[in-house]
Amino acid sequence: MNKIKTSYTCQECGAQYSKWQGQCNKCQSWNSIHEEIVNISRKKTSFSSINNTNSNPQKINNIEINDHYRIITNDNEFDRAIGGGIVPGSLILLGGEPGIGKSTLFLQISLMLSNKVLYVSGEESEAQIKMRADRIKYNNDNCYILTENKIENIFHQVKKIKPHVLIIDSIQTLNSQLVDTASGSISQLKTCTSELINFAKTTSIPVLLIGHINKEGHIAGPKILEHMVDTVLQFEGDRNHFYRILRVKKNRFGSTNELGIYEMLNEGLKEIKNPSEILISSSNQKLSGSAISAIIEGSRPFMIEVQALVSSAVYGTPQRSSTGFNAKRLNMLLAVLEKRVGFKLGMKDIFLNITGGIKVEDTAIDLAIVSAILSSNNEIKIPEDYCFAAEIGLSGEIRPVQRIEQRIKEAEKLGFSKIFISKFNDKLTSKKIKVVALSKIDELIDHITR
Ligand code: TYD
Ligand code: MG
Repeated sequence: MNKIKTSYTCQECGAQYSKWQGQCNKCQSWNSIHEEIVNISRKKTSFSSINNTNSNPQKINNIEINDHYRIITNDNEFDRAIGGGIVPGSLILLGGEPGIGKSTLFLQISLMLSNKVLYVSGEESEAQIKMRADRIKYNNDNCYILTENKIENIFHQVKKIKPHVLIIDSIQTLNSQLVDTASGSISQLKTCTSELINFAKTTSIPVLLIGHINKEGHIAGPKILEHMVDTVLQFEGDRNHFYRILRVKKNRFGSTNELGIYEMLNEGLKEIKNPSEILISSSNQKLSGSAISAIIEGSRPFMIEVQALVSSAVYGTPQRSSTGFNAKRLNMLLAVLEKRVGFKLGMKDIFLNITGGIKVEDTAIDLAIVSAILSSNNEIKIPEDYCFAAEIGLSGEIRPVQRIEQRIKEAEKLGFSKIFISKFNDKLTSKKIKVVALSKIDELIDHITR
């Protein structure tokens, strides 16, 4: 007999209550609690009803994996980001703002793969997907498109087509007959994801999922979705710019330090093999307020340009605006400048921009940010062959950053003549590039504002 259960679930965080209330006690959001009729048949799940495999324990030493274990997608950025290809039986979740290119990325991967793929869309029609595919120059004769949102029907088609990879766009559009709520509700998300996990683990077919994000930038639905899957990827960038970054938030089968960089072109996403060359603005005439940093995102070093504009505040409260860099950290750096060097930036508007609309998390960019601000404030140009790589501490000390050799090498390769680093980094000398080691922020001022 089916057990009928009603529950009041917060659509933001997944907390459950026995009766309705206006505000969620857990995440404090208002009007997010909805009644859900959860009608879970205790006997079977829809996938296990068509596939009855009994799993047996195996000795760890008897389990064999070979070199060709991972499925290579031929998209080098994607393969590297996830740790060298797709692990069979794994679930990969891709999140990102609407319109950033999630569907394009997964469709492109379907067309680049040499294996049989089933791309299921609950959002677009077959013709719309075909139109998108026509823009992308790759072609895979074994790529099947299905527009469907009932998970039972998807499993039925999978049994017929037997793909090597299953792609779902998006998890929020799926629904299962096991629960009576609408697609996108918390209980649908949980049920569909656990059915897909069950499916992936029993068949070894990997599942690539697209997930929508909510207004806070998290994958819509409770965090539980991120806990359930093996890999969580985030596609980010500024929609007005061409560059897109694929960041790894969680990876059970690889490092989370990797990232992929793409450019959104008219004919799909193009891998960017040499990021430094495009992230430095191409004008030969460098103006004041621009400084270049040698950062490391993922495992690759690259050079990126920071632009700052400091001007007198016209209206009472000075404005602080930052694109691509944490605004709180910018305020901290400004406080350090004010306190330790005596720069009166309190009555100035400060705008900061990282080229390419890329969000930088590496703190080695601090020194370039401070240099760009000082350069704009004093109207002094920083020579275009100078670059910076160091963190700044609260007392104005210039702190060392990891993997300095790699940064210096990259700067050297691109023809920079001077790199400013921390005195506390290992002493490194190089013939082609002059390494300037600083210990306090005051010393930087001597170098760039003379
Ligand atoms: P899309 O993949 O639909 O985004 P998401 O699934 O994350 O919502 O991407 C849509 C944007 O990408 C749209 O603004 C058009 C653009 N685009 C290109 O610039 N070039 C292309 O080749 C394709 C297919 C899309
Ligand atoms: Mg989409």
